[in-house]
Order: sequence, then structure tokens, then C-alpha cells
Amino acid sequence: MATNSMNLEDIPSESLMSELLRRMKCASKPDKRLILIVAGPPGSGKGTQSPIIKDEYCLCHLATGDMLRAAVAAKTPLGIKAKEAMDKGELVSDDLVVGIIDEAMKKPSCKKGFILDGFPRTVGQAQKLDDMLGKQGVKIDKVLDFAIDDAVLEERITGRWIHPASGRTYHTKFAPPKVPGLDDVTGEPLVQRKDDTAAVLKSRLDAFHKQTQPVIDYYSEKGIVAKLHAEKPPKEVTDEVKKGPPKKLRNFMDFYSCFEYTFGFIVMPLLFLAQISAVVCSSIGDDYDT
Ligand code: AP5
Repeated sequence: MATNSMNLEDIPSESLMSELLRRMKCASKPDKRLILIVAGPPGSGKGTQSPIIKDEYCLCHLATGDMLRAAVAAKTPLGIKAKEAMDKGELVSDDLVVGIIDEAMKKPSCKKGFILDGFPRTVGQAQKLDDMLGKQGVKIDKVLDFAIDDAVLEERITGRWIHPASGRTYHTKFAPPKVPGLDDVTGEPLVQRKDDTAAVLKSRLDAFHKQTQPVIDYYSEKGIVAKLHAEKPPKEVTDEVKKGPPKKLRNFMDFYSCFEYTFGFIVMPLLFLAQISAVVCSSIGDDYDT
């Protein structure tokens, strides 16, 4: 019988090392589970900014669009059900996505919290999410609203290229790869998403305005929405994104970063010097005795 278990010998050493380093870095971070939602229309930059905030706060990045595309590519029963709606730019059923998110939140990499990207997309999904989190005794900390005018989205969407294995995103004009058509890290070919056409974008935007904008309004009423200026250049959006999480937690993270820095660059060399002094002084002591 086929199993999903993975043989560690098959994982490249660089991947194992970077995962080990990530775990060491994240071990010192607070155990408060930070839960963020990134919301906005297609092409507003959710997928560009999420990996940055994920690294900053040691979260996991749960993108329903990526999970559904992986299921479609693997032709799983879920993928077969989702494909038709996705190709047309419509939403797949609430039950399908709620099920995959419920499962994904339990992953060990989500222990310090998670970023929900592309979920919830309907008020029904938002209410189910509140129920799921309520049962675990946690709640959403912040919703980052990637507010942007529809007029700039067609150029962003039709110029986007993706490295499927890593999820790295490029843009022919705004974030070009070093070699056109190839991933900067692996040199593998980049691809365009099937729904990244001007025609399908119209349906996706329609779905956003009718079904997902009410989700942002739902969270606005709870007072947890931080509005971003998503039309700005990527670096400026990143700066705004970093201000999004609750202030108390940011201060705590700043304290930890400062502690790590101080310990690594000031305390460790001092300890090293103290050890050398001890060796030198004890050898002087030996000379005196003899
Ligand atoms: P999904 O994969 O979630 O797509 P989406 O919401 O349409 O969002 P995108 O990934 O297109 O946009 P993004 O905001 O991440 O943009 P990016 O950062 O890449 O969903 C796909 C489909 O799955 C849905 O249509 C639906 O069928 C289904 N689905 C998913 N979740 C569902 C759910 N919960 N319920 C039901 N159905 C669901 O940026 C775009 C481009 O712009 C990039 O090339 C980037 O380099 C560039 N760029 C980014 N930021 C900037 C900037 N500041 N300035 C200039 N260029 C920029």
C-alpha cells in the first residue's frame, strides 16, 4: 500500500539544513500563536508579501489557491471537483476549502501561528473559521486588507510568472528573473497560471467584489482590519505589512531579535575572551608554582 511518509534520505541536504536553521531561529520566538489573514483582489500582492511576513514571525503560509492547484495537478478527488470552478475564475465550494484549511492548520510548522492567504473568501467561510478557531481557544489577530484599484491588476496578473516547485513569483516588468523565463535559484523554467488571463481575471474580480469584499467588511466590524496601500512598490508595501501585526507582539518580537543579536555578537565573544583569559592566567599560575 502506498503511504504518504517521506524518506529523509530523499530530501536534499540544503533543504534539511535550511529547515534546521529555521527551527533553531524559531525556537526562541514567543509561543503566542499569531493568526493573520491577507485579503485582497487577485494580483494585489498577497502571495508576494506572505513569505516575507512568514519568515519574520515564524509562521506557516496557508494559501488555499496553492493547495487547490496542487490537488488539481495531482488529480486527487478534491482537485477534480475544484478544477472546473478554478478554470472559470469562480470560487470552489465552501466545504472543500474549509476541510483543507482545518487539516493544514494542524501542521507542526503552524505551531507559532499562520497566515491565511485566499481564505476565507465568503462570509460563510469566515463564520466557519471563527467556529474552528473558537474550539481551539484562539482568534484572528489581524486582517491585512490589500486595498488597490482594479485598473492596475490586469498588468500585474498577465505579467506574472511562477516557479511551480517553490512558489516563487516573478513579473516581467515589476520583478523580472535574472534570466528571462528561468527561476533565479534553480534555473528551472517558469510557467504562467491557467487563470492568469485578462478574460478570467474579470470573473475573479467579480467574485472578489461580490463574495470576498463582504468578508473584509465582516472583520472591519470586529475592528481587526489594517488597510494597506497595495498599489505602492513592493518594498513600501512590505514596510506597511510589518506594521500590521498587533503592537504588543511586534514589541515582543523586537525584544527577542535584540536579545539574539546581543547574545550572538556581544555576550558570546565576551565569554570566549573570558575563557582565553582563564587559560592564560592559569598557565601563569602554573609557572609561579614551579
Ligand atoms: P488564489 O491562488 O488565491 O488567487 P487570487 O486570490 O486570485 O490571488 P493571486 O494569487 O492571483 O494574487 P496575489 O494577491 O497573491 O498576487 P501576487 O502577490 O502573486 O486563488 C485561485 C483560485 O482558487 C480562485 O479563483 C478560486 O477558484 C480558488 N480558491 C482559492 N481559495 C478559495 C477559497 N477560499 N474559496 C473558494 N475558492 C478558492 O502578485 C501578482 C503579480 O504582481 C506578481 O507577478 C508580482 O510580482 C506582482 N506584484 C506584487 N506586488 C506588487 C507591487 N507592489 N508592485 C508591482 N507588482 C507587484
